[in-house]
Amino acid sequence: MIRRTKTPFPYTDIVAAPFIRWVGGKRKVIDIISALYPLKFNKYVELFVGGGAVFYNLNAFGKLKSINSRPKALLNDINKELIEAYWVIKHYPKEIIDLLKDKDRFSIYESTYYKIRAWNPTTPIERCARFIYLNRTGHRSMYRLDMNGDYNVPWGAPKYRKIFNYVENKIYPISIALQEVQLLNREFDACEEYIEMGDFIYMDPPSDAHSNKPVFNNYTIDGYNIIDQERVANYFIQLSNKGCFVMTSNHDTPLIRSLYADYFMYEFISRTMINYNGIARATFVGDLLITNY
Ligand SMILES: C[S@@+](CC[C@H](N)C(=O)[O-])C[C@H]1O[C@@H](n2cnc3c(N)ncnc32)[C@H](O)[C@@H]1O
Repeated sequence: MIRRTKTPFPYTDIVAAPFIRWVGGKRKVIDIISALYPLKFNKYVELFVGGGAVFYNLNAFGKLKSINSRPKALLNDINKELIEAYWVIKHYPKEIIDLLKDKDRFSIYESTYYKIRAWNPTTPIERCARFIYLNRTGHRSMYRLDMNGDYNVPWGAPKYRKIFNYVENKIYPISIALQEVQLLNREFDACEEYIEMGDFIYMDPPSDAHSNKPVFNNYTIDGYNIIDQERVANYFIQLSNKGCFVMTSNHDTPLIRSLYADYFMYEFISRTMINYNGIARATFVGDLLITNY
């Protein structure tokens, strides 16, 4: 069932776009991905949603439609704080804006950053505010947890003080975009009961490492490994056999090419930040988009 938000929406003509910066986010290559959307589909399902660049793009172009009052999209991610933030923005846009507008409490200065990082909020709205704040002010907007599951990203010395205006402008459009959307916090292959024939599924898992280039994969307390790539590929095949339109993206590596050898592959180049012995450097890597249609 679709639940309405608690607060009425003010008029906004701003197009909804990701409210966080997310490692592996697909905003910069959205034109390439959008050229390969299926022409017609029922519901949109994004199983590794992260910042949700593809969801917002489909939404902006009016490609998401709720059929018979069912959700127009399903967004899933293993990261609990991330999905809770989507949920809070969907249902409590005004409350989260009011909280983040408290500039004394959420200033961008280093001392505030470490205070907020050490804070253990008890309500979903406070946790969402902390999550957005740390993403906007932490080093390179990384999401990294230590062995105890505590967020351990250092202060990012943000250059601009725009976080709060930025948040206010973005939250309502996102909340509107999320109204007929189902949110799940599960393993990517545990959403089966909600996926039907004719749905469009996009999977953007943490990437396979290029042989000589380490890749950042630690989105949650558990890392990501090659066995998971095989699991994603097996699930791709399962969804394909179910009659879904399936698309996935990954680095162009021998492993990924062999796992999806029976499907359509499109090569492209993307710019990414790679960490060599602690020094971050921008580099270009080969990527693949893979579809079953
Ligand atoms: C490359 S990012 C997705 C980026 C996204 N396409 C965007 O535009 O921002 C990968 C995402 O997969 C999630 N993830 C990792 N392992 C997962 C799993 N087993 N099940 C579901 N989500 C997972 C991570 O939390 C992360 O948000």
